[in-house]
Amino acid sequence: MKFSAQLSSFVGVAVVTMLTAGTGASAQMQPAPKVDPARGQQIASQVCAACHGVDGNSAAPVNPRLAQQHSEYLYKQLLDYTVRQGQQRPARENAIMNGMASQLSDDDKRNVSAWFASQPSQLGTARNKQTLELGQRIWRAGLPEKSLPACSGCHNPAGQGIPVQYPRLAAQHAEYLEATLRDFRQGTRRNNVAMQEIAAKLSDAEIRAVADYVQGLWLRDAAK
Ligand code: HEC
Ligand code: HEC
Repeated sequence: MKFSAQLSSFVGVAVVTMLTAGTGASAQMQPAPKVDPARGQQIASQVCAACHGVDGNSAAPVNPRLAQQHSEYLYKQLLDYTVRQGQQRPARENAIMNGMASQLSDDDKRNVSAWFASQPSQLGTARNKQTLELGQRIWRAGLPEKSLPACSGCHNPAGQGIPVQYPRLAAQHAEYLEATLRDFRQGTRRNNVAMQEIAAKLSDAEIRAVADYVQGLWLRDAAK
């Protein structure tokens, strides 16, 4: 009894100390960024809507869905599309998005990310019956013969991702998924080493199969 009372008061002190230290440090460095989703909505409707839809549910399958994606992931992509100091090329190369991202201030990158993250994603469906089984196998179990890990291990079994690092993939357009997996494979997208190594192991047919399967993954309400 005595021990546990001592322990809990010790833990209490430790937590208070940590909280105070945390506040002190961030106040000294810089104030926490204020995120303004309403400002994000304004940017979305004026600049991004033509391709991504105001609510992030893009109509054309070459343009990724941004709706319900984790805002930290979206913000990271906008940084990766921008050429960083001391580098010649952005970590993620795409002519359209390199231009778009470099015109957004850091605050607006956060604002527009928060806006799209707050919007519900629409449903998607798999289209190709012949490749569904292969797609599902890659997703759930990987391909042990190629040392390919299961996608579900990092992206969650229902494709909801794991904030803040692992993006949501459920209901993403298959055409976009295929394109970005090929970009990881050939190195035009080099903003994540794990995904570059994974994509390098996938054949075109395997990319097509897993992308179609993922487009049909769905769990709207469990995401938030
Ligand atoms: C002219 C069409 C177009 C416009 C306008 C546009 N985008 Fe994009 N966006 C794309 C395309 C195409 C891609 C996929 C690029 C790639 O493969 O890297 C993309 C990718 C993205 C991604 C990465 C998504 C992911 O899942 O990794 C983000 C984030 C993004 N856009 C945000 C924005 C924002 C914010 C705006 C407005 C300021 C915007 N886009 C305007 C076409 C557009
Ligand atoms: C070890 C963890 C891990 C595994 C396993 C993994 N991924 Fe990823 N994946 C990531 C991370 C981290 C990112 C985000 C990269 C970034 O920051 O741009 C990502 C991003 C992606 C993207 C880009 C999403 C977008 O919106 O542009 C796709 C597509 C993807 N993964 C598909 C897959 C598939 C298919 C598999 C299985 C064959 C898989 N991943 C397995 C960690 C993983």
